[in-house]
Amino acid sequence: MILVTGGTGFIGSHTAVELMEAGYEVVIIDDLSNSNEAVLDGIKKITGKKPLFEKFDLCNLKLVDDFFKQYNTIKAIIHFAAKKAVPESIEKPLLYYENNLVSLINLFKLMLKSSIRYFVFSSSCTVYGDADELPVTEKTPMKKANSPYGNTKQISEEIIEDIIAAGHPVKAVSLRYFNPIGAHPSGFIGELPVGIPSNLVPFITQTAFGIHPELMVYGNNYNTPDGTCIRDYIDVVDLSKAHIKAIERLLPGKMKSDFEIFNLGTGKGVSVFEMIHVFEKATNVKLKFRVTGRREGDVEQIWADTSYANKELGWKAETSLEDTLRSAWKWEKYYRNQSK
Ligand code: WQD
Repeated sequence: MILVTGGTGFIGSHTAVELMEAGYEVVIIDDLSNSNEAVLDGIKKITGKKPLFEKFDLCNLKLVDDFFKQYNTIKAIIHFAAKKAVPESIEKPLLYYENNLVSLINLFKLMLKSSIRYFVFSSSCTVYGDADELPVTEKTPMKKANSPYGNTKQISEEIIEDIIAAGHPVKAVSLRYFNPIGAHPSGFIGELPVGIPSNLVPFITQTAFGIHPELMVYGNNYNTPDGTCIRDYIDVVDLSKAHIKAIERLLPGKMKSDFEIFNLGTGKGVSVFEMIHVFEKATNVKLKFRVTGRREGDVEQIWADTSYANKELGWKAETSLEDTLRSAWKWEKYYRNQSK
């Protein structure tokens, strides 16, 4: 059995689907603070089965302890549960440090008490900050994170590394996501919008649906070919599949060290203007947009060198950007029609 914390969230739910389709039994812990239980029905529509689910806050050590007493056949943990909104983390740093770090520490406290030895951590390219070299490799030095959110990811990786260095019998993989976008091709699960999205693709699909009059492009005076920021946008299903590869490396002991880090991106940088163009081409929906000032904290450009993950995990992002944006659009329409 695999524990998926944050498994009703965007990447967590897609990973739960891939795990179940690969034959693993899944139990999800989620406090539903940024998702909802209906996601479990979406997972069932795709896989034919509803995963086991426990709703509680991982910051409550007693509840985590009770959980592991009840679920004593867990072989590995994939830890997604964390707050992840960059602007909110700047506004409420204490909430982010407490939630993201205490939940991780509680999980490790119980792991060390139990026989669970394998841990997959959901990290982010944010740990690189404004990297001096592009594309970034796993060896690119971490710079000061641009936000408390990014700092919690850096600190979390260091906590895991120190626990392992102290000799505790744990093996871990940290997966550094670039920009996860899109939705499961079925249209039954996707990125649940909570409030006004800060991320580009949900804002694009909501604008296309008519929820916003126009998309704001945060600056076109960067030192990039078309002046807009460049990111490495990775399809969420491709990203989820990498977690299965990580489990299949961990469980049979194929690791080359006790703590391994992988960049999960496409290896290709795409600008905001290019995203608008590809979305319009892929969906035949014209997008209204307006260029505004830069957004504070935005990194000018970042994309991944994925050769290490390609070689060692035997994983590669395969979905075209057009197909990914089409899946995001399909999900937006399905979600809005469902909500009517
Ligand atoms: C992408 C580009 C914006 C919205 C964040 C987190 C990162 C990860 C992914 C959790 C930027 C531009 C955006 C809009 C725009 N989250 N943009 N108009 O900031 O690269 O990464 O989300 O792990 O940790 O930092 O993603 O989608 O917010 O922005 O012009 O309405 O789109 O300026 O250049 P970002 P994003």
